[in-house]
Amino acid sequence: MSGGAIRRPWELHHGDALEVLATLPDASVDSVVTDPPYAHVKRPYGYWTEEEWFALMKPVVREVRRILKPQGSAVFIIQPNSEKIGRLRPWVFDFVSWCCREWNVVRDAYWWNYTAIPSAGCDRENGLLRPSIKLCVWVGEPDCYRNQDAILWSESEHNAAQRATTRAAQREPCPSGYRRDRFKMASTALERGGVVPFNVFPIPNCHGNGSHSGNGHEAATPLLLCRKWVRYLTPPGGVALDPFCGAGATGEAAILDGFRFIGIDRHAPYLASARERLERAARQSVLVME
Ligand SMILES: C[S@@+](CC[C@H](N)C(=O)[O-])C[C@H]1O[C@@H](n2cnc3c(N)ncnc32)[C@H](O)[C@@H]1O
Repeated sequence: MSGGAIRRPWELHHGDALEVLATLPDASVDSVVTDPPYAHVKRPYGYWTEEEWFALMKPVVREVRRILKPQGSAVFIIQPNSEKIGRLRPWVFDFVSWCCREWNVVRDAYWWNYTAIPSAGCDRENGLLRPSIKLCVWVGEPDCYRNQDAILWSESEHNAAQRATTRAAQREPCPSGYRRDRFKMASTALERGGVVPFNVFPIPNCHGNGSHSGNGHEAATPLLLCRKWVRYLTPPGGVALDPFCGAGATGEAAILDGFRFIGIDRHAPYLASARERLERAARQSVLVME
């Protein structure tokens, strides 16, 4: 099912991820950014045991590998959960180690939701730490496409002050034994227009149930996180795909930055929200371009 009479830069498919992926040609997609369902989390769209989750995800990862171009790569956003307080489930870690062996994990990367509320499993009685990190399991070939310049961080005041107060070529020893040139380090940000990003994206999750930013999806992914990954992994004019696209956060990210998008979800109401959202994003990106 595609966008309509006017040729849209997106396709939305209603159906099961695996069945629809099987219809897509080999080496036809540049990047995959997806927030799939999680094992042992009850949602209106389903519930999966660890075994059922792997039965869904392993074939999906293999199909994703087939349809990605040789330099394409994929990110699966997942969060650990517990069997009971104090006993973590292994599925997230099993998935990472399976991806390492089955294909390749390019770099470990994380989303830090620094607005996570101190509720689930971290109250005063049990004294546990507040869960706020999701893994962004990044799989692809070691030399897969990535554009670090597209996601540089803004320079901190500290870095700018270092540059202003440090003499050129001032080398000093680090605890590791290496000698580092503070001036050179502080100048790189200026030369490049930003700071090399960390493998942790600190991004607030401001999607309350039914909130506008979630576009009607109760497990929505922050647009900002999707924008980082889509920009980082998709070459100019490329195609991004989300096989569990829900209300279309990855799609909006792709359209706003001038990429094409393919989305799949088996729940029609989410796709209806995604369609509206992509139309809005397309109008917005035209406004930005003008
Ligand atoms: C965490 S949500 C994705 C949220 C989305 N990133 C957003 O911001 O709206 C996971 C989605 O996977 C979809 N889903 C679950 N099993 C599926 C399957 N077998 N095939 C396609 N979609 C599926 C659900 O309907 C749900 O919308």
